[in-house]
Amino acid sequence: MCGVVGYVGKKDCATVLIEALSKLEYRGYDSAGIAVFENGTIRVEKSKGRLANLIEKMKIDGKPDGHCGIGHTRWATHGEPSDINSHPHGNKRVTIVHNGIIENYKQIKDFLISKGYEFESETDTETVAKLLDYYYVDDPIETITKVIAEIQGSYALGIMFKDFTDTIFAVRKDSPLIVGVGKNENFIASDVPAIIKYTRDYYLLEPDEIAVVKKDEIIVYDIHKNVIEKELQTATWDIDAAEKGGYEHFMLKEIHEQPTSVKTTLTPRISNGMPDFSADGVDFDKLATYRKIFVVACGTAMHAGLVAKYIIEKIARVPVIVDIASEFRYRDPLITKEDLLIVISQSGETADTLAVVRLAKQVGAATMAIVNVKGSSIAREADMVIYTHAGPEISVASTKAYMVQISVMYLLAFEIAYSNGTITKEQCKQYTAELQNIPSGIEAAIELKKECQFVASKLMNTESLLYIGRGLDYALSMEGSLKLKEISYIHSESYAAGELKHGTISLVTDQMPVIAIATQTALVEKTISNIKEVKARGAMVILICGQSIDVGDDVADYIIKLPLVDDLMMPMIAAVPMQLIAYYTAVLKGCDVDKPRNLAKSVTVE
Ligand code: G6P
Repeated sequence: MCGVVGYVGKKDCATVLIEALSKLEYRGYDSAGIAVFENGTIRVEKSKGRLANLIEKMKIDGKPDGHCGIGHTRWATHGEPSDINSHPHGNKRVTIVHNGIIENYKQIKDFLISKGYEFESETDTETVAKLLDYYYVDDPIETITKVIAEIQGSYALGIMFKDFTDTIFAVRKDSPLIVGVGKNENFIASDVPAIIKYTRDYYLLEPDEIAVVKKDEIIVYDIHKNVIEKELQTATWDIDAAEKGGYEHFMLKEIHEQPTSVKTTLTPRISNGMPDFSADGVDFDKLATYRKIFVVACGTAMHAGLVAKYIIEKIARVPVIVDIASEFRYRDPLITKEDLLIVISQSGETADTLAVVRLAKQVGAATMAIVNVKGSSIAREADMVIYTHAGPEISVASTKAYMVQISVMYLLAFEIAYSNGTITKEQCKQYTAELQNIPSGIEAAIELKKECQFVASKLMNTESLLYIGRGLDYALSMEGSLKLKEISYIHSESYAAGELKHGTISLVTDQMPVIAIATQTALVEKTISNIKEVKARGAMVILICGQSIDVGDDVADYIIKLPLVDDLMMPMIAAVPMQLIAYYTAVLKGCDVDKPRNLAKSVTVE
């Protein structure tokens, strides 16, 4: 939610800021703006809508000319997307960009109005800008510490003070912000892709640490103005990872990256054919001792959790409760110190998921995070962290992150099952070996492109459709349905196939296509019966099933046969055609695949 950048160096600042923002548009695209010191004064350029609008605007206005500035791409929370509500906010003395939500902005605004301040936007951010202005005399650090003592909520702030024309100031709490370390140039950014073109080196800012960033110097202070020694971090992936690399969209590129991402994630965690998480610092003797496992996450990550539930319960026989983080945190959950909480998050910054980690820690439960972004808030706060190695996922619709999350959950399930004694060492090795073969299965599934394009052409004009499945296929159908609706804007729902006749089947007509997933041999016959029920009511049926499953050609209108793998691991294969169907449907409809309307990738507000 919202992307923040900043640059100080010798290059043309506006150009660098625009380039950096283009890599953060996945965080929101309701407006874009920059502020640059030009001849000693702060010049702001901003515009509603995509970054492209700002670029067009600056072709008319001219780009701000300078070497130090900040930039922002917005996902609107307080105030509609408009020029006025666009960041940067402030005045000629103090100008800021902000990611997060200031919860007590109303009180601060009332206070400032009583002091004679006027406000032009509806944003919470403008109150922070004006509060900084209120306290600012000549000491930026003093000013920032006063302000962060008063504001409540989440923030990643990039700040410019008029008297410090070669410096940007930055501070964060509960919203991510890194300080990029270059040669004769330095940066701030919400995420690594923004700076990777210029440097791989960066510092992570801890909550309420204040960074003072100049061209050739970075000083970080704590809230008591002590200088902090920071540990330099280095991004392990290179610039290609944040580029489309010849693909039309990031989503398609990321679908193709799945076999490699899964391999890179699994390989370091398998030794002598057995799961081995020792390098992640996970105490597996303890694994068999938890009473229950809670898996909590949001969106696609939650769907990965649903697959995990089926697998863990099936082979490790431990009860697994899966929940949506925004629900779990407010329902006084029955989690205790006997339990293990596993949170799953690509970004590691999702506000609700982070809150769940804190809640579980308060009651003494063990917390484990499956996270893709190194050093992210969730990774830092959980007791145990297992990093997925998907590399940067830029497309808002998650594909490869889902795949690596599931792959880790499989391996964990095998380890838990082995620790519990519900599978033997031999079985564990066999499962692990099968999992290691999955990347080639995913590759083969990507080859189903043509079939998926054809199905997409049949779906593109539909208004609404259903996904159905049983067991693991039901968990999977939820993800298939989400993928399609979020990028193609076609209404879709997923249902447990056996539940259809308890209400939803009344929606089925010849205008309501049904996508059925049937990969679990033991349940195929049941699902086929449900397919017959919807076909009898006129639905066009697309069936996604395993190659070995003999269903007969007339059971569905279109059948996509999946490469052969063990039933248990079918979700990792079947997910691929569902991603491709969603992708091609959105492309055929002319949708902006990588940046679907109203969505942002990293949801740092609740
Ligand atoms: C947003 C994204 C989804 C993602 C969810 C959770 O809704 O669009 O793709 O699954 O947030 O994000 P996380 O970073 O916690 O996995």
